[in-house]
Amino acid sequence: MIRKIQLLFVLCVAMQLSAAEIKWELVQPGVWRGVIGTPEAYSLLSASGATPYTEGLNKMPQASLPAFASGAFGFVQNKNTVISIPLGLEEQIYGFGLNFQTVHQRGKILQLHVDHYRAPDNGRNHCPTPFYVSSDGYGVFVNSARYIKVYAGYGLRKDSPNRPLSPKDRTTDRTWSSVQVSDAVEMLIPAEGVEVYLFAGPTPMDAVRRFNLFCGGGTLPPRWGLGFTQRVPTRFSDEEVRNEVAQFDEKGFPLDFVGLEPGWQSRAYPCSFEWDEVRFPNPAEFTKEMLEKGIRLNLWTNPYVSPESGIYEEMFPLSGSHTVWYGLVPDLSMPAAYNLWKDKLRKETVEIGISGFKVDEVDGYDRYLWPDVATFPSGRDSEQLRQTYGLLVQKLTYELYKERNERTFGLVRASNAGGNSFPYVIYNDYYDHRDFITALINSGFSGVLWTPEVRNAPRDFSEERKGEDWVRRFQSNIFSPMAMINAWSSGTKPWSYPAVTEIVKDFALLRMRLMPYFYTEFAKYRFEGTPPFRAMNLEPGFNINTATSTEMRSTSLEDNPYLEAVRREIKDQYMAGDYLLVAPMFTGDIERTVVLPMGDWYDFYTGEFVGNGERITVKPGLEKIPVFVKDGGIIPMMPPLLRAPKAGQTVDLTIRHYGKANSTYNLYDDDGETFDYEKGAYTWRTIKVERDRNGVLRGSISAPERGKPNTVGKVTFEFMTK
Ligand code: GAL
Repeated sequence: MIRKIQLLFVLCVAMQLSAAEIKWELVQPGVWRGVIGTPEAYSLLSASGATPYTEGLNKMPQASLPAFASGAFGFVQNKNTVISIPLGLEEQIYGFGLNFQTVHQRGKILQLHVDHYRAPDNGRNHCPTPFYVSSDGYGVFVNSARYIKVYAGYGLRKDSPNRPLSPKDRTTDRTWSSVQVSDAVEMLIPAEGVEVYLFAGPTPMDAVRRFNLFCGGGTLPPRWGLGFTQRVPTRFSDEEVRNEVAQFDEKGFPLDFVGLEPGWQSRAYPCSFEWDEVRFPNPAEFTKEMLEKGIRLNLWTNPYVSPESGIYEEMFPLSGSHTVWYGLVPDLSMPAAYNLWKDKLRKETVEIGISGFKVDEVDGYDRYLWPDVATFPSGRDSEQLRQTYGLLVQKLTYELYKERNERTFGLVRASNAGGNSFPYVIYNDYYDHRDFITALINSGFSGVLWTPEVRNAPRDFSEERKGEDWVRRFQSNIFSPMAMINAWSSGTKPWSYPAVTEIVKDFALLRMRLMPYFYTEFAKYRFEGTPPFRAMNLEPGFNINTATSTEMRSTSLEDNPYLEAVRREIKDQYMAGDYLLVAPMFTGDIERTVVLPMGDWYDFYTGEFVGNGERITVKPGLEKIPVFVKDGGIIPMMPPLLRAPKAGQTVDLTIRHYGKANSTYNLYDDDGETFDYEKGAYTWRTIKVERDRNGVLRGSISAPERGKPNTVGKVTFEFMTK
């Protein structure tokens, strides 16, 4: 510490910098703000318009400024801001956005840059959130719309008290390592100042929760958003969509919303935002007809304006210097451009009953998007627009629904910090099943949602293998924020691989059965900031040491305890809500290992005990994706309906209890479609499972509150563990 301050002094004098310990100012319960230099007015928070959900933050445990915070410092040098945040020798760090291949970020060098993901994890991805959380239970967020260079526990300063004075000799010592043990997370931000936020724990999950609440709280989708969605081929006409919906109904597959891909527009890439008159001669009537069947429509678009769009002329002066696919790039950071596009979408689509959007191509690649030399009429530069474009399109389309007091749930290919409360799920064109699961895990550290969408089985697979791949991907997808087949190019349907259709159907229906559970878990995201899909590392009782018996836990500063830990990180199993541990199977695998946190765990399908705090091997067969439930797990389920319940509709509940422990679950309920919950039109009903005098488990649910929405019909308890 003393040496760090000495270094600061030396740096200041030598470089005439204002290098200084960061002064932390408490801005919300357990949230501190530090300022270095003069932060730019345009930031992730200003672009997204995110404001803290103070009601939620006020309910978090009290916290004082973490001791290490006094060791954080920053300075501005040659138009860049440098920040340095202490990092303990035993800490692991998570976050820095939607990484696809790694969960442990310690030791990484990243440049946070919105882009379409291409392996490896290097900071370029669909949501490079400048937020990290430490295993020690705190989080750090840098509110900057810049390409931030991150040294996530990489370098070591010469005055560090952690620097060994007599390093190992490589010639004679075989334990010498090329990697130094770092004691800081350092970042270089290409701006003359920045705002940094520090989030207290006490646990890593609490830090994530505070970050989400600080950015407005998570999103609460409409109930229909948690049903099943099918995206139809690009050139489908209204008649073909009609047929597809009819087939879902005939075959008994659930369906809540259908995604129309580029062909709904008269021009796409760049876009007209106007209906194609041949494929959709009467969009208003068609939309109405679908709504009457309980089917909502979601429209694909990108924001690039075709010369044939009715808004082209007006958009011309409001767009950037460069084109994308010869179309205009609206400067959405300017109200005039923002409102012009918003009004167009409202008039053509929202007003006729369209329920949401999939906003594509706002991430990258560099070979499509505007180059960094582009200029924009607002005076903001291309880098700022690139880092925030995903936020701007989400905000704009979300507002279209908020204004009507209707909830929406859609897809977007880029986001960033501040987008936490937008009702959007990120997707992409990549298709590695394992990496999709790692992305799902990392979404929970990044304030966003991710779908491991299902498209088709690889062509070169044998028929049997195709069926296996279809099932395995489908099973994972059911335990994700958006259950979806994206058949824009493949034309696949859930029943496309006949040998496995029944298995797929069981899982599609299981998704519907789980709706009351997932809806409640999303309400916790909204009100408490708890991500519904998340890493094992956020689960109490999960110990990375269980994962490996050989992990080095060295106390010597010259050994790097993280090398082994990085290799053995757990990136293929995750928590879906408070009680379900999901361990996907991947094509070709017959068995897998699962690391169970401390506590008793039970099989989701049978209720049988499977283990406690240990590594188990499971061999589930094609019919099952391994899912385990924590002792005392309460899972409210509804009948396997083909559509989500509408506002005002009641459904019977079967409430499952697993294991032996007495327990309580707060079931969330509201109308499922509007924002009336923001005005108090919601309830949390208490479900209790306790043993009676004879030691027999009994369940109860508190009465509905008068005057509040109630969707619960008859309630039955099912005790899964005999
Ligand atoms: C891609 C997108 C796909 C599909 C396609 C339609 O950019 O990732 O999901 O929508 O466009 O052209």
